[in-house]
Amino acid sequence: MAQTIEDFTSTIHLQDLWEDPYPIYRQLRHHRPVAWVPAANRYLVTRYRDVVHLERHPEIFSAAEQDSLMIRVMGRTMLRKDGAAHLRERKAAEPALRPRAVREYWTPIFRKIADELIDGFYERGEADLFTDFAGPMAARSLAVVLGLHDVAPQDLQTWSQAMMDGTGNYGDDPAVWQRSDAAAGAVDEAVDAAIASLRSAPDESVISAMLRADDPLTPEEIRSNIKLFIGGGLNEPRDVTAVASYALLTHPEQRTLVTADPARFKDVFEESARWIAPIGMYPRQTTAEVELGGTLLPAGARLGVMLGSANRDETAFADPDAFDINRRDRAHVAFGGGPHFCLGSWTARAQVGQVSLPTLFRRLRGLRLSDSEPVRLGGWVFRGVLNLPVRWEP
Ligand code: HEM
Repeated sequence: MAQTIEDFTSTIHLQDLWEDPYPIYRQLRHHRPVAWVPAANRYLVTRYRDVVHLERHPEIFSAAEQDSLMIRVMGRTMLRKDGAAHLRERKAAEPALRPRAVREYWTPIFRKIADELIDGFYERGEADLFTDFAGPMAARSLAVVLGLHDVAPQDLQTWSQAMMDGTGNYGDDPAVWQRSDAAAGAVDEAVDAAIASLRSAPDESVISAMLRADDPLTPEEIRSNIKLFIGGGLNEPRDVTAVASYALLTHPEQRTLVTADPARFKDVFEESARWIAPIGMYPRQTTAEVELGGTLLPAGARLGVMLGSANRDETAFADPDAFDINRRDRAHVAFGGGPHFCLGSWTARAQVGQVSLPTLFRRLRGLRLSDSEPVRLGGWVFRGVLNLPVRWEP
């Protein structure tokens, strides 16, 4: 590049990252894989190998970020703790999310929800799969898995968005705080009501597991962690559902492969999560001076771990910008790595790869993009398609 890398990093604007981060990530991977980016106020870690390395050393690359906005919004969740304190809370929730629980309890419920949602719009012959299916499917599924049986799916979506906006409110906008505080208050009320009823009638849900654990979580711990689950367990399955549907609708040869062999929807799920990682960036903070990717980081340095870039690293994935369900490269990092590896990965795989995608493509005959409006993509901290207008033959 003609300009220096410092010139380049100082001209990166958040809006450019929001619109299309991938060309910027490519430059960073090639020229400064761990780069101070003033607009993000962090060092961005963009190479696959450095992301994998830092997740192997949580004692140096801590999740307990100081002055974290996530803590401001949600309280101290398991995702902002390290070591034994983290493990205790994670273990309490885990039984509800193991593969067996997902297979036996949640998958049949996911099937019912998917069919009900499709029944609701089938006769119309057109829908926006983002708002009419992906969002409500993720919200209704999450409500059941968490044990929030009396919460309206639309409320869950509103709370999730408000809290996510709060965790990204680096501009300190009071209106954003007001909405995220209101959402957090509403979640507290819903969790308290759920705790009361699950104490007398336990079930397989996450809240029930937290109450019944060998070392049960306190109501306060449950309230914060359920905020984390609502913030982190809704938009991601929604976004993979919409991105995967969009990818298949624009790659007819790969659609033919999966409709001939629906077991391959699991490959569609994995490749979609790699291609457009729903969580494109998450934070870490160094506990000591350390060298990473050729950059010397001081103790206390704030990092942005760029999953969206690591998943497009050409040294890890051949032709990384292409959507290709046949790729046999190494594993993607869309679920993170190390001690905080996504606790909902099996739930998400079942919900999206085994239920939502096969059901949509089986039931909606002749499914195709509608020409009513173009499909839009956006985001870098969280990225996905923002609308998905489609038609089919009822
Ligand atoms: C495709 C969908 C999903 C993706 C791509 C995804 C991605 C991630 C990532 C990258 C992390 C690590 C964050 C970090 O280390 O800072 C994470 C953690 C987490 N995820 Fe997911 N997630 C998804 C679905 C879900 C679902 C459905 C749930 C709940 C049912 C969930 C619950 C969690 C929890 C509780 C954590 C924190 C784990 C811990 O701190 O030990 N996720 N997820």
